[in-house]
Amino acid sequence: MILVTGATGQVGNAVVSRLVSSGHEVAALVHRPEAAQKRLPRETALRVGDYEDIPALKAAFAGIDRLVLISSDGDADAVMRHHANAIEAATAAGVGHITFTSIVDIGESSPFYYASVYRDAERRLAACGVPSTILRCGLYSDFILDTWLAPASGELALPAGQGMMTPVSRDDVAVAVAAAAARADTSGALYTITGNRPLDFDEIVACYAKTTAQPLRYRPSSLGDYLASATARLDDPWPQAFTTLCASITEGRYASTSSDFTALTDKQPESFRDFLVRTIPGRPSDD
Ligand SMILES: NC(=O)c1ccc[n+]([C@@H]2O[C@H](COP(=O)([O-])OP(=O)(O)OC[C@H]3O[C@@H](n4cnc5c(N)ncnc54)[C@H](OP(=O)(O)O)[C@@H]3O)[C@@H](O)[C@H]2O)c1
Repeated sequence: MILVTGATGQVGNAVVSRLVSSGHEVAALVHRPEAAQKRLPRETALRVGDYEDIPALKAAFAGIDRLVLISSDGDADAVMRHHANAIEAATAAGVGHITFTSIVDIGESSPFYYASVYRDAERRLAACGVPSTILRCGLYSDFILDTWLAPASGELALPAGQGMMTPVSRDDVAVAVAAAAARADTSGALYTITGNRPLDFDEIVACYAKTTAQPLRYRPSSLGDYLASATARLDDPWPQAFTTLCASITEGRYASTSSDFTALTDKQPESFRDFLVRTIPGRPSDD
């Protein structure tokens, strides 16, 4: 039995569907069970537990052979605690293998708001005694589209300089996670999951403008200006998280391209352009 956390979320839900359709017995961790069942394949067993509640997590993980721990989100201290609680509960419950979605940007000197959170989770996994597979994921194409491209009108001002990133779609992340969970390698495997080619924001907005026929240009801005404008629009922790993410992109921390996705799944990752063509409804042309 493979249990997937974050199973009502976008990545977790796609992982559950993939594992179910490839014949695995799957359980889903949900913290709000009311609406969960209709968002999951009928064959999925529901286990109820909140990342804040270690006893509930231990009970939810009882009898589980493999855990897919989809990273949590929100305030950094809470996310760090959520990962620590899930790893502690999985260890206590005797889970045999953990697959974890980490991030590529975990360097000690990274400015990114979440870098230390993911370093902490990876350190705990290495120390807990349960075999694990870590997937360090690049920026989601979906995140770039939803956070920065879709709301932009004509101009996208970000403090990312000419930094490059190699976007990977959530669907591809889910394909890789499901493959890693099915494989359950016990040798401490580490995969870097990225798209097929690094792009800077000039290329990203050009791709968006061509796909949607909506003019969009990129203007590099300062960290201070972006932080001020994000603070006026967004709740904590997003102004800090997005500003430090841009600082990280400028430093080239998202620029690497890995062939690990193909090694793990035997597929090519979807290009950023193909992702936009697939996901933007009503786009004007197919060329
Ligand atoms: N690499 C990137 O570009 C990037 C971008 C954004 C996020 N991420 C990371 O990727 C992860 C997966 O992304 P996603 O789009 O699938 O996220 P998502 O759609 O927001 O899903 C989050 C999941 O976590 C569950 N959850 C939230 N709080 C919980 C709690 N206290 N206890 C138990 N479960 C809880 C949610 O359940 P409910 O729906 O019931 O609340 C949901 O199933 C995110 O959580 C974040 O760590 C990465």
